[in-house]
Amino acid sequence: MKIYVPMDSAAKALGADDVAAAIIAEAASRGLEIELIRNGTRGMIWLEPLVEIDRGAGREGYGPVTPADVPALLDGTLKGLGKVEEIPFFARQTRLTFARCGVTDPLDLEDYQAHGGLAGLRRAAGLKAAEIVEEVTRSGLRGRGGAGFPTGIKWNTVRQAEADQKYIVCNADEGDSGTFADRMIMEGDPFCLIEGMAIAGLGVGATKGYVYLRSEYPDAIRVMQEAVRIARANGVLGADVLGSGRAFDMEIRSGAGAYVCGEETSLLNSLEGKRGVVRAKPPLPALEGFLGKPTVVNNVISLATVPVIFEKGAQHYADFGLGRSRGTIPVQIAGNVKHGGLFETGFGMPLGELVLDIAGGTASGRPVKAVQVGGPLGAYMPLEKFDTPFGYEEFDGAGGLIGHAGIVVFDDSADMLQMARFAMEFCAVESCGKCTPCRIGAVRGVETIDRIAAGDPGAIPLLTDLCETMTDGSLCALGGFTPYPVMSALTHFPDDFATAKEAAE
Ligand SMILES: Cc1cc2nc3c(=O)[nH]c(=O)nc-3n(C[C@H](O)[C@H](O)[C@H](O)COP(=O)(O)O)c2cc1C
Ligand code: SF4
Repeated sequence: MKIYVPMDSAAKALGADDVAAAIIAEAASRGLEIELIRNGTRGMIWLEPLVEIDRGAGREGYGPVTPADVPALLDGTLKGLGKVEEIPFFARQTRLTFARCGVTDPLDLEDYQAHGGLAGLRRAAGLKAAEIVEEVTRSGLRGRGGAGFPTGIKWNTVRQAEADQKYIVCNADEGDSGTFADRMIMEGDPFCLIEGMAIAGLGVGATKGYVYLRSEYPDAIRVMQEAVRIARANGVLGADVLGSGRAFDMEIRSGAGAYVCGEETSLLNSLEGKRGVVRAKPPLPALEGFLGKPTVVNNVISLATVPVIFEKGAQHYADFGLGRSRGTIPVQIAGNVKHGGLFETGFGMPLGELVLDIAGGTASGRPVKAVQVGGPLGAYMPLEKFDTPFGYEEFDGAGGLIGHAGIVVFDDSADMLQMARFAMEFCAVESCGKCTPCRIGAVRGVETIDRIAAGDPGAIPLLTDLCETMTDGSLCALGGFTPYPVMSALTHFPDDFATAKEAAE
């Protein structure tokens, strides 16, 4: 009998380690032979700890399981969830990037290969660099870190740059509110990211890679370090990647703990041991990046999606999606929501379907008021925008952005003036200080919103004007996009700003 208990840190936070220990103790006391596997999470966080048992006829799910449930679990009398793949939240997904996450043992390279792992890298190893980049371009993959920049174009710039050394830098700083896709794949399927980085290295001629991994993810750091060691010991990394005659190796670096260190040039400074301050562009990191050398900076999900593109072909990937948003997107649903978790789907599903149908609305049972999509710099979307299809251009057209595809749900008790204030305060706290519209503007923004809350209507045009200055004058998107949450709150929920005024009168 095989028993799976996730070792993902969300599952652990909900008691997975205690459940695993209780299973081992109970099985030992019964003289029952079991194989306990610590898998990644399937991403249905409301069911964690989600224990799966394979008695020879597929994996049956149980969850959330407590240590007290373990005797009944082993007796076979605990009420189960049925086949995990048939749980509607899971069955409705298209899992390409996350196909193995929650299924395999994250640090078992054989298990990885038995589930399609390394097929992509093997194929890429037989291609010329230009052909590798062409395949990524044809897949239509765009950066999943926030900006949605075409990955193939970025890789081609680095490939064509003349230099004695090039780098692949993986952005694993994952600072957006309500996001956890990067962590989930690094903890649940780390070889997938390593494979994607190795393909990127072969594609652009980079022999060295770094993962800049946020220090708040100690489990992911530990798993990734171990996975790199195993990959190196098995010839996946090193001087002769899978016998290709080409070299690629990589290291894990711990982040410095600032939101702005997720911005790619600030990240590069931090990686070089400098203060995490944004660099002016040009030069682009693709031409002068880490230590001044041509560098691919890509998000975890962008890189972890590359193996499946090579395994199944660019066309297979590009066949999913909507408009210019090709392939799948791992949407992360969090906040005040009934069924929070990771939902990978082809681009195009309307926002409302994700929030009200897939995620089942709010956990509080109160009506949804707004959702913030795209992290702390993303717009608040009201119910009227719920028919917006999940796609880069479609969200842009609706005054929002997808960012790293995190959705945070709020019920009707949320005070949108306070949310706008929080956005300005966040920007003031996290600003790197390099440019005035952000460094000073965000502080003035907090003060201006406080004036509105205190009943000064004249402060509303001032706030609008300030937001325009921040949008137009900021050097990076921290200052430049903070107006998204602020102005969307003001535009879609004017009553909250008026009520504040009335309450003050
Ligand atoms: C303030 C700020 C924070 C950012 N944080 C992240 C982050 O945590 N992770 C990430 O991948 N990209 C982040 N980005 C975007 C990166 O600058 C960059 O666009 C991305 O790493 C490129 O990779 P991609 O093309 O694969 O998306 C941030 C950008 C800004 C302006
Ligand atoms: S917008 Fe803010 S975070 Fe970005 S460079 Fe200017 S001061 Fe730094």
